[in-house]
Amino acid sequence: MKTKKDILILGIETSCDETSVAVVKNGREVLSNAVNTQIDIHKLYGGVVPEIASRNHVMNMDGVYRQALSDAGVTIDDIDAIAVTYGAGLLGALIVGVNFAKALAYSTGKPLIAVNHIEGHISANYIEYKDLKPPFCCLIVSGGHTALVEMESYIQKKLIGTTTDDAIGEAFDKVARECGLSYPGGPNVQMQAEKGNDYIKFTNMDKDKIVDFNFSYSGLKTAVINFIHNKKQRGEDISVPDICASFQKEAVMQVVNKSIYAIKKFGYDKIVLAGGVSANTYLREKMQEEASKIGAKVYCPPLKLCTDNAAMIASAGYYNYINNRSIVDPRTLVPTSNIAL
Ligand code: KG4
Ligand code: ZN
Repeated sequence: MKTKKDILILGIETSCDETSVAVVKNGREVLSNAVNTQIDIHKLYGGVVPEIASRNHVMNMDGVYRQALSDAGVTIDDIDAIAVTYGAGLLGALIVGVNFAKALAYSTGKPLIAVNHIEGHISANYIEYKDLKPPFCCLIVSGGHTALVEMESYIQKKLIGTTTDDAIGEAFDKVARECGLSYPGGPNVQMQAEKGNDYIKFTNMDKDKIVDFNFSYSGLKTAVINFIHNKKQRGEDISVPDICASFQKEAVMQVVNKSIYAIKKFGYDKIVLAGGVSANTYLREKMQEEASKIGAKVYCPPLKLCTDNAAMIASAGYYNYINNRSIVDPRTLVPTSNIAL
C-alpha cells in the first residue's frame, strides 16, 4: 500500500547480462524485483558476448517492466520517479535500459534519475539492513572494481584505496577460465575451492606489511597462470580444487586485511560489503572472523541482491531523488561505459 508520503521508485538495470526492473518504496522496501538473467546463453561462449547481451535486453525489456509493475501491484501512475543505471557497464547493454527509461520518463513526465551501478551495489545493503545509515566504511568488490570507500552520507563518498590494475572479480573470472571452468567464473572457483587445500603460495602477501589501501590482482593472476602452464609443460597433473582454494585465499585475504586495517585506522565500527564478489562465502566468513576480533560488525547483502538487480538501482535512485541529485533531462542522458566511483 502506498500512502501520500511514500515515494515509489521504478529502477531499471541492463549494464551487463541481467535485464531487471524493480519497484522500491522509500528506498528500502522492495515491492518487486523482476530479473531476467542471460547466464545460460553466455555460458555457451565462456563469457558475456556484448552484442548478444544487448539483443536479449531489447527482447526482454518490455516484458520485465510489465512483470515488475504487476508483481508490485501498481501502475506507472503510482511511480514517483524512474531510476536507471547509466554506467559503468557494457555500452550496448546500457543503451537499452537507458533508452527505455528515457522514453518512459519523457512520455509520463516523471523525473529521471541517473544511477552509478556501483552506488546501486552499495545501496543493496540499505534494502537488507533497515537500520544501516552512513557514515560507514565500504568494500566494493566487483567485476570492474576493487575499492575501499568512506560513505560520508547517502550521496557522498570518499575514496580510500582502489586497485592499481585488475579488479578482484576479473581475477576470479580469468583464473576460472585458465582452470577450464565455465562462466560465470567466480561462483565456479568458489565451488572448486571448497573441495581443495589452500597450500600453494602464489605471492608473498604479508598482512603485517600493509602500507597503503590500494589493491593489486595482476601479479596473483599471472602467478596462477604461470603455475598452471609450468605444470602442464612438465606433463604434471594439476589439482583445480587446490589451485582455486589457494588463489581464493590470497585474493580474499588481500581485501579482508586491508578492510580491517582501514576500519581501525579511520575509527569505524562497521564494514559494508558491496558488489558481485561479496557473494563469495569464503570472503564473508573471513571478513566476519577478522572483524569480530576487533568488535566490528560486517554487513553483506543477501545473495540475490549481490548480483545485478534493479532493486538496488531503485534504492540508490531514491537517495539521489530525495537529495535532488542526478535528476537528468530525459532527452539528453547518455550511457557511459566507464565512470569514476
Ligand atoms: O558486481 P558485479 O555485478 O560486477 C560489476 O558490476 O562490475 O559482479 C560480477 C563479478 C564477476 O566477476 C563474478 O565472477 C563475481 O562477481 N562473482 C563471484 C562470486 N559470485 C559472483 N566471485 C567470487 N565468488 C562468488 N561466489
Ligand atoms: Zn554489478
